[in-house]
Amino acid sequence: MARRGPTFVCQNCGAVTGRWQGKCEACGEWNTIVEEGAAADARMAGPGRPPRKGRPFALEPLAGETHEAPRLPSGIAELDRVTGGGFVRGSVLLVGGDPGIGKSTLLIQTAAALARAGHRAVYISGEEAVAQVRLRAERLGLAAAPVELAAETSVEDIIATLTQGKTPRLVVIDSIQTMWTDAVQSAPGTVTQVRGSAQALIRFAKRAGAAVILVGHVTKDGQIAGPRVVEHMVDAVLSFEGEGTHLFRIMRAVKNRFGPTDEIGVFEMTGSGLREVANPSELFLSERDLGSPGTAVFAGVEGTRPLLVEIQALVAPTTLGTPRRAVVGWDQSRLSMVLAVLEAHCGVKLSGHDVYLNVAGGLRIQEPAADLAAAAALVSSLGNAPLPSDAVFFGEVSLSGAVRPVAQSAARLKEAHKLGFARAFVPEPARGEAGPDAGLALTGIGGLADLVADIAQRGRRGRPPELKAAVGDR
Ligand code: TYD
Ligand code: MG
Repeated sequence: MARRGPTFVCQNCGAVTGRWQGKCEACGEWNTIVEEGAAADARMAGPGRPPRKGRPFALEPLAGETHEAPRLPSGIAELDRVTGGGFVRGSVLLVGGDPGIGKSTLLIQTAAALARAGHRAVYISGEEAVAQVRLRAERLGLAAAPVELAAETSVEDIIATLTQGKTPRLVVIDSIQTMWTDAVQSAPGTVTQVRGSAQALIRFAKRAGAAVILVGHVTKDGQIAGPRVVEHMVDAVLSFEGEGTHLFRIMRAVKNRFGPTDEIGVFEMTGSGLREVANPSELFLSERDLGSPGTAVFAGVEGTRPLLVEIQALVAPTTLGTPRRAVVGWDQSRLSMVLAVLEAHCGVKLSGHDVYLNVAGGLRIQEPAADLAAAAALVSSLGNAPLPSDAVFFGEVSLSGAVRPVAQSAARLKEAHKLGFARAFVPEPARGEAGPDAGLALTGIGGLADLVADIAQRGRRGRPPELKAAVGDR
């Protein structure tokens, strides 16, 4: 029989080793390896203490009485849209985002909105002094809201304070990385501390029925700093994003046990805090450069909400051996795919060109439905052929060059019509579906080559040689 030695487990990633090490080889974290298993448990239990016998409990059928999760709407509609209708009692939400993106601003606004509605809301700052938080609240015009404030970092003290008096409905912890608990030995800010603190706060939330929001910092590569396991422990993870130079801020649900994960909330950073943007299409299209080549409006859908955005492309002859392909706001591999389809099936030669693609307004698109708009912008830039400024595009491009239908065509067309667009380039089957009363003139695109030919005809300074092959002598 094999000898069972002690096992050592990394508390960050769960890797198992046969001996103790200072650094986990699997995840690269320091001081996270702890002895676990029978030998360690026996030592912890001490001599003479018999192992506890399990206590049986009643199992429940799947069918039975259910209660809709009791929700507490924040009163900030864009936030409620992302959470799925408000904060759930006893749930824990992690809000991540780059420093300075506006997490503290949004959460003090949320706490103030709830406090004004008569709920007990507590805001604990581990980063700023009470005076700093007050100063911000004053600037936001929230000074009169009855939010209870503290600058504290000890989780035990915080929980002791919160369990006094009426249970708060909302507790904001800004941020989880600054918290520490006596239950674990390591220094504040370490992986073990962050996880220990999160665990204690989650236990408090479940026990007391309060909604707890944890603020989490984000590392350079976009991960919420600290152990990934905090993301697994909480009920919902919201990510707050935006480009530093833009004023739009987008709240996205990465995980949500009580609601959808595909909804976004759109905010605008103003001098008096974050303002909700109820109609984001107008905002994303507000600075359009009409009539210049290389821009196409994509009729997208985020969650249940249609959203029009401008996709910009620049295709320019390269001076490098390997041409550049840079993309902001869209998927790099999707761009490569669209470029490959243009080369292989549409006769568009791009191997000698640098390609830049940008989604305006700092938005990040995840839908494959943007393929057609991206292709249109690329070909328009290459051919120096402006697209009609009153047209929108959507459709997924397959590797064979066919344009495939996408979900929610009607909603996309309706939004485009509402915003004054008169034409839409859509997958051929979607044209039939939408019928004649879509309010827009629809051009059905069966294959990407049709679109390329259509755009090449509009070229300003004659056809560039790269597009000649695509159009032939038409
Ligand atoms: P903050 O909420 O402190 O960011 P985080 O907590 O995510 O680090 O936001 C700080 C930024 O927001 C700061 O650069 C200034 C800007 N801001 C405004 O533009 N208007 C405002 O009313 C406030 C309070 C902040
Ligand atoms: Mg902050």
